[in-house]
Amino acid sequence: MSTQTVDCIVDLQYGDCGKGKVAHHLCQTKNYTHVLRYNGGANAGHTIFHKGKKFITHQIPAGVFFGIKSVVGNGCVLDPVQFFNEIQMLEEGGIETKGKIFVAENTHIITEAYKEEDKREGVRIGTTGRGNGPAYREKYGRTGKRAIEIPDLKPYLINLYREWYEGNNVRILGEGAQGFGLDIDWGDYPFVTSSHCTTAGALLNGLPPRSIKDVWGVAKMYETYVGSKKFQPEGDVFNKIADVGEEFGATTGRRRQANWMNMQTLERAIRINGVTRVVFNKVDVLRTVGQWEVYDKGRKVEFKSEDDMKEFVTARLTSLGVIGKNIFFSESKERI
Ligand code: IMP
Ligand code: MG
Repeated sequence: MSTQTVDCIVDLQYGDCGKGKVAHHLCQTKNYTHVLRYNGGANAGHTIFHKGKKFITHQIPAGVFFGIKSVVGNGCVLDPVQFFNEIQMLEEGGIETKGKIFVAENTHIITEAYKEEDKREGVRIGTTGRGNGPAYREKYGRTGKRAIEIPDLKPYLINLYREWYEGNNVRILGEGAQGFGLDIDWGDYPFVTSSHCTTAGALLNGLPPRSIKDVWGVAKMYETYVGSKKFQPEGDVFNKIADVGEEFGATTGRRRQANWMNMQTLERAIRINGVTRVVFNKVDVLRTVGQWEVYDKGRKVEFKSEDDMKEFVTARLTSLGVIGKNIFFSESKERI
């Protein structure tokens, strides 16, 4: 009988929390047969340090760095032009991609026209201009094109049903894109992306709910957001956080707006995603800035020290069922 086990990586804030880093780490330490990108398109930017080199991938999952089958799932929309550029970038960086990269036959396609439209019309909410919104619109309007219709993609096509259920012992790492605050349903609509950024979004790629084992929630010790809404409050400290944290988008180079972490956003994200482990990245940024604060229940809470903040956050997560040994605090330069 075929069995499937799935670990999932989700972002608990607005993207850019370091999912790539966690994915890279898990690929090294666990024995996955597949890494699955399960939502989003070329709007994502996953920064990965591999053997001392920096790579930014937009569509291809982190498994490719370790020769693990890397699958773009049907929850994604794929830009073929960008896809082939990315393969070339990886090959030039010394990563062997042949026979390792796959696209689900039923994944929808981003066309040049969608990108043009998104660059024109996406200004309203501040999209990445990668054609993501139009591609999902056409998908749900039942006028879209799927990967199976694109001749150039033929060598990469995969049938996910066969892949998941005809294999013997399938162990998948689900690599999410964007984040909870950008989720089409749970984010701050309309300032959201067009896909499902939650654990449920991973399941939509043909996986049975019971296959989910660990859900790794990734956050930062502060929040950032990139897009058209006003997010960053007044105050020099937020510019300082963005500067120290080098908060520029991996896809568009736009400066990210910064704010303190919101405990209620975090709690909602942990519950709705069924998170079992949490990684807080970039702890060192607040250390350099020298302030430790969060928002909780509509109020700002200031901490005297790093330890006080960590203790507060740990207690709150514990009350949601994520206990201390499953909470990790990590530094920007740390390659976990
Ligand atoms: P879209 O996904 O390009 O349609 O953009 C919708 C919103 O999501 C905009 O605010 C984007 O800046 C944001 N967004 C999309 N992808 C990412 C990401 O990978 N990281 C952070 N923000 C993103
Ligand atoms: Mg990113």
